Amino acid sequence: MGVELAYTDAVKRDTRDLYAKVARFIPEIEWAAHAPVIAEINRLKREKNAVILAHNYMTPEIFHCVGDFVGDSLALAREAARTDAKVIVQAGVHFMAETSKILSPEKTVLIPDTRAGCSLASSITGADVRLLRQKYPGLPVITYVNTSAEVKAESDVCCTSGNAVKVVEETARQFGVDTVIMIPDKYLARNIAAKTGVKVITWEGACEVHERFTAQEIRDYRASHPGIVVLAHPECPPEVVAEADFAGSTAAMIGYVGDRKPQRVVMITECSMSDNVALEHPEVDFVRPCNLCPHMKRITLEGILHSLGTMTTEVVVDPVIAARAKLAVDRMLAIK
Ligand code: 13P
Ligand code: SF4
Repeated sequence: MGVELAYTDAVKRDTRDLYAKVARFIPEIEWAAHAPVIAEINRLKREKNAVILAHNYMTPEIFHCVGDFVGDSLALAREAARTDAKVIVQAGVHFMAETSKILSPEKTVLIPDTRAGCSLASSITGADVRLLRQKYPGLPVITYVNTSAEVKAESDVCCTSGNAVKVVEETARQFGVDTVIMIPDKYLARNIAAKTGVKVITWEGACEVHERFTAQEIRDYRASHPGIVVLAHPECPPEVVAEADFAGSTAAMIGYVGDRKPQRVVMITECSMSDNVALEHPEVDFVRPCNLCPHMKRITLEGILHSLGTMTTEVVVDPVIAARAKLAVDRMLAIK
C-alpha cells in the first residue's frame, strides 16, 4: 500500500488515549507494533467513510482501539441496519458479515479473512431445513443467526442468544403452537426451551468453543475461588448452564458485570471477552479460562488494515437469497 508504518512520535501522541485503555494487558513493546497499524486503520476509516463492527470476541487492540461499534451478534445486526457509513468492515466471523450485507445490501461489506467461519454455520444447509419442514409440517423454523444466508432464507425468523427467549415465546404465540423447530445449536435450543416452556425440535449443531466447557470445570472454579460468580453463554451444554449463576449472550454477561460489579467473576465463553471486559472493570477480579475461537482469531489488526486498504474481501449474497433471508432477520429485529 506504500504506507510507511512506523511508531513515530506523532503516532505515539495520536494513539496515547487508545493505549491508556489497553495498557494493563498490552506491554509497550507490543503497542509499538500495534499503534501505527491502528493509526492507519483509523485514518482509512475516515477517508473511506467506513465503520468497523467488532464482536465482543475480538482481541483488545481491535475491540478497544479500532471498533466503532462493539457488541453481541444482535447489537451488531441492529447497527448494520442503521449505520450511514458507506463501508462496513466486519471484525467478526463470516455469518456476521453476511447478516450485515443482508440488512444493508447497498453498502460495501468487507471481511478481513473469508476463512473466519463457525462450527454452527457449517453444520446445516438450506436443503437440511427444507427436509426438516417436510418432517414437521406446520412448525415454525427459528434459526440462530450463526448460519449462512441460505439457511436464514429457509427460516421463518432468526434469533440470537440475546433475544432467543422472546423470539421463541413470540413465535410460538404467533403460530399458535407449543413446539418450534430451533436450529442449529442443540444446546442453545435446550437451554432456551428450559426457560420458556415451549418444546423444541433441534439439530445436531454445537459451538466448538462452548461445547468444550464442563460442569466439573465450574465446580472446580467454585472450589478454588470461593464466592466466585459464574456467567455462562447459552451455547454451553445445559449441565454447564445449570452450574452457572447466570446465562446470557455476550452483551448480557457484560451487562451483569457492569450492573452488579461482582468481586470475582468467571465468564464461561471465548477468552477475549474476559480481556475486553476486565479492561473496563479494573475493580472486578476476573478468572480467565481460555477457550479460543479459531475463527474469530483469524481477524487481526493487519488483516483489517489490508481489508480497508484494498477494499477486500467483499461479501456478496445472492440478491434473491438475501431478500428471503432479510424477512427472517427483520422479523427478529421487530421483536423487542
Ligand atoms: P453473542 O455475542 O450473540 O452472544 O454470540 C456469541 C457467539 O458465539 C458469536 O459467535
Ligand atoms: Fe461459531 Fe462458537 Fe466461534 Fe461463535 S465462538 S463463531 S459460535 S465457533
